[in-house]
Amino acid sequence: MRLAMIGTGYVGLVSGVCFSDFGHDVVCVDKDAGKIAKLEAGEVPIFEPGLDDLMARNVASGRLSFTLDLKAAVAAADAVFIAVGTPTRRGDGHADLTYVYAAAEEIAAALDGYTVVVTKSTVPVGTNRKVEEIIRKARPDAEFDVASNPEFLREGAAIEDFMRPDRVVVGVETDRAAEVMAGIYRPLSLREAPIITTDLESAEMIKYAANAFLATKITFINEIAALCEKVGADVKQVSKGMGLDNRIGGKFLHAGPGYGGSCFPKDTKALARIGQEHAAPMQIVETVIAVNEERKRAMTDKIMDLLDGSVNKKRIAVLGVTFKPETDDMRDAPSLTIVPALVGNGAEVRVTDPEGLKEGEALLPGVTWCEDAYAAAEDADAVVILTEWNAFRALDLDRLGSAMRSRAMADLRNIYDRKSLEALGFKYVGVGR
Ligand code: UDX
Repeated sequence: MRLAMIGTGYVGLVSGVCFSDFGHDVVCVDKDAGKIAKLEAGEVPIFEPGLDDLMARNVASGRLSFTLDLKAAVAAADAVFIAVGTPTRRGDGHADLTYVYAAAEEIAAALDGYTVVVTKSTVPVGTNRKVEEIIRKARPDAEFDVASNPEFLREGAAIEDFMRPDRVVVGVETDRAAEVMAGIYRPLSLREAPIITTDLESAEMIKYAANAFLATKITFINEIAALCEKVGADVKQVSKGMGLDNRIGGKFLHAGPGYGGSCFPKDTKALARIGQEHAAPMQIVETVIAVNEERKRAMTDKIMDLLDGSVNKKRIAVLGVTFKPETDDMRDAPSLTIVPALVGNGAEVRVTDPEGLKEGEALLPGVTWCEDAYAAAEDADAVVILTEWNAFRALDLDRLGSAMRSRAMADLRNIYDRKSLEALGFKYVGVGR
């Protein structure tokens, strides 16, 4: 099949590359000439393990290409995917659909022969119908259907998630569109990934409901963690004991400094707005958003407590600033709340991150960037683990401690255990234990 992918951001690029690996002919389109030039030169603009190799392989096979020419790509396509950004709109928390609707206008002008116009971007319920209206109005003669095909991939595990999804969700209105979509995903159905076909609105809702549920699960365990600290329980044991119940499941039950990233914060806010607008308030989701904000702030107090109440003039080594490991993404990362709070309270902050430097330098002013954990810990009064990169999981703790002025660790991802740290003379605080 011939596919056009509009937008070469995270979802667009990963989906385009993976679809070409399925054997389809894929043209990825973007307005950013610099980005297209880079992609054509074989450069991957995002950090995602395995993506560069997969991209190179499919470009070499002739199935994958990049272009600024939306018109030609759409005219030749059996299906066009809209994978442009839907950021949070300033002021009201709504998803900003400007790019989606602009793409729909441009696609309308370029359609040639029966085409399925598929929205992959996460969009509020009703958007696919709006896309259909826009195209119908611009091109009453065009032969097309719309489809909603939300994407559930995680950064850092994007290729694996795309190739081996728990499920594929396809919202359609006609059998003809359903057939095209089934053709596109056939390689996955051969691997027995369930493909759920729904109406447009349900497909759109599934994405928001799933992300809000996962954000709720994390926030729930974070609140339980705070209570565990008061009553002397260990949240790691608690989440294990809870998670073994099949109805609950152990995933997304790790307590930490609060969720971040490009999806959960944006999608929970958008869902809360949709609820308000339809007089069906999403009270749980609204609370989750507030509790998560509070959670990030509370982490600063935890670090202060570790240092006897004040971080003023103390040197603090922060390990990890991206919102999670295996990404260079800093969007809504807890570090963006915690590091400025430490600096604001007079701390001298030294930061290290395997990938965070690229964006982090601009986002975290007033800190010193260090080569690795040991350099960051030089003369430090405390080490704070913010992101659980593998590089921080097996530190030579004695070497780390020897570099420090005093041995103290705030382990906000619970990757170490108190006993072994205390045996090395560290003051240790985790979350929920
Ligand atoms: C998420 C969804 O998982 C994915 O399905 C969707 O398509 C996009 O949003 P992503 O944002 O890439 O993916 O990362 P994810 O691994 O889900 O982590 C999100 C945040 O939750 C991170 O800040 C992570 O540290 C935090 N988290 C996750 C926890 O604090 N505890 C957990 O148990 C799991």
